[in-house]
Amino acid sequence: VRQLIPAPVDAVDPLELYPAAARRAPVDRPWLMINMIASADGATELGGVSGGLGGPADRLVFRAIRATADWIVAAAGTVRAERYGLPRLPDAAREMRTAAGRPPDPRLAVVSGSLDLELDLPLFADQAPGELPPLVITGTGSAVARRARLEAVAEVAVIEEARPTAGSILAELQRRGASIVLSEGGPGFNGQLTSAGLVDELCVSISPLLVGGPSARIVVGSTAVAPTAMRLDLLLEQDGLLFARYVRQ
Ligand SMILES: NC(=O)c1ccc[n+]([C@@H]2O[C@H](COP(=O)([O-])OP(=O)(O)OC[C@H]3O[C@@H](n4cnc5c(N)ncnc54)[C@H](OP(=O)(O)O)[C@@H]3O)[C@@H](O)[C@H]2O)c1
Repeated sequence: VRQLIPAPVDAVDPLELYPAAARRAPVDRPWLMINMIASADGATELGGVSGGLGGPADRLVFRAIRATADWIVAAAGTVRAERYGLPRLPDAAREMRTAAGRPPDPRLAVVSGSLDLELDLPLFADQAPGELPPLVITGTGSAVARRARLEAVAEVAVIEEARPTAGSILAELQRRGASIVLSEGGPGFNGQLTSAGLVDELCVSISPLLVGGPSARIVVGSTAVAPTAMRLDLLLEQDGLLFARYVRQ
């Protein structure tokens, strides 16, 4: 992987760069980062999933960004479309994290209002012995019977709101020890985080594909009144994919 910004370097290791970057969380909440992949024209899915946009370089950076987080949060639409499993880092990342006194893997939280989540999704059905289950965050509007069904395979947190807001989701993760939270989308959930002014860092992979079509952008539905100024902190390249890291100014 080649670094272009802040200074040209022929070969860098994303696994060293991303977790080591400076992140000073606001006093009252965790640091919030978003990571998404988009085509050169801004599409976020091909045939309903993001997999066709990336490649080996993207998977490397994706894991390096995951290695940064205490908690990964994904909205139910993404978890259903991408058939999410529990996050499992490569050994090198696990060793780095345990040496720093952190758990080897980040935990996964899923946000769902309906709790319409199939139990055969890998995050529920493919849990290794001793592995911590996912946390499902929902609101008081969800059906009690659906909560009970999920409690066999997940922790369920019911926020005292009909539909949890972005701020209360982040507060729930903070109560559970999060200092750095990574949102993996989807675009609609990212829009809520953006509207609430919670996004401190945006990591975006730009794939050299022209896709067209009706695909959503990486953040949609934001009602934020003013754009948030971001600073380009890091730009990497491999195989024509660009990996940009922006932080809030
Ligand atoms: N390119 C990328 O990097 C990338 C990353 C992620 C996703 N994607 C793509 O994006 C698409 C999915 O994104 P999307 O925008 O349609 O959906 P999404 O944001 O992933 O999920 C929407 C769903 O999440 C739940 N949800 C969201 N906010 C909630 C809240 N505040 N409280 C309770 N539940 C909440 C609801 O689930 P319930 O319906 O269960 O109530 C809602 O229907 C897929 O095609 C996926 O492949 C691409």
